[in-house]
Amino acid sequence: MIKKNFDKIMDMTKEEKINNSNVIKNISYDQKEILFNVMKLYNNGEPFDCDITASSLKFYEQKKNDKYFIPEPKYLFDVYPQFDKIQKITPFNKIPLEDGSIKSIVVDLPFVICPKTCASMKRDNKENKKSCIIANRFSSWYPYMEGYENMYWWMNECNRVLADGGIICWKMQDTISASIYHSFIEFCKICGQDVGLYLIDEFFLEAKSRLISAPKMKQQQHSRKYTSSFIVLKKDIKNGNKYSPLKILEQCKKNVFEGKTYEFK
Ligand SMILES: C[S@@+](CC[C@H](N)C(=O)[O-])C[C@H]1O[C@@H](n2cnc3c(N)ncnc32)[C@H](O)[C@@H]1O
Repeated sequence: MIKKNFDKIMDMTKEEKINNSNVIKNISYDQKEILFNVMKLYNNGEPFDCDITASSLKFYEQKKNDKYFIPEPKYLFDVYPQFDKIQKITPFNKIPLEDGSIKSIVVDLPFVICPKTCASMKRDNKENKKSCIIANRFSSWYPYMEGYENMYWWMNECNRVLADGGIICWKMQDTISASIYHSFIEFCKICGQDVGLYLIDEFFLEAKSRLISAPKMKQQQHSRKYTSSFIVLKKDIKNGNKYSPLKILEQCKKNVFEGKTYEFK
């Protein structure tokens, strides 16, 4: 039923005048809408080839009231596979795919920084599950450098297995740990552009409510994050990172600006 719907909506040949209600927006409350729009805009309306953080396959499960259907990728991997059809991968080891062999990859790494030894992080500790629901569900990084190094590693690996013209759809969220703001989204963008990928888009997933993890705190130090990002990176070997902010910054650094003028003609 939903699958049929998908075929109907994902009609890439249909020419419809773009207006305010049907234009693809960079903001949504529904992560399946974002994934669907990434497929439509950047993957020729085709299902993703691979997911390296398949987990419990939430992106692909079909719920009764779902408006969008995201077909399951052919290659499913996870560090902690939850189903037989998901192949185990190991941090700082290769994704078991050939160089340049796939056209699209989905990545949704953990974003929480929290010691794995704390009671709430133990995967089988059912009594304490509620004390750190987010970390339990998605696992965590500790120390914080584990997160940065994994993001860097997996970005390089995704780039290796991606064919020219292929895309990575990478979900991430900024986080706060020990009062320090970790700009994980920015870091992933930098890693992608550093390996030569073209940052082609960013979609913001909004939440209507969030768990408040420090209810006893009297004074708030940072805004509570109600958004996460889906960044889209494209492998374009020829023009790849021509417009990468990192390259433009290098250009700016070499420039002498004092007295410079741009003539208007
Ligand atoms: C946010 S969840 C992914 C949720 C998934 N998208 C879904 O729809 O169910 C994060 C995933 O990253 C995996 N993970 C944990 N540590 C990892 C690591 N060091 N490298 C890669 N993946 C890791 C977890 O097993 C978990 O499945």
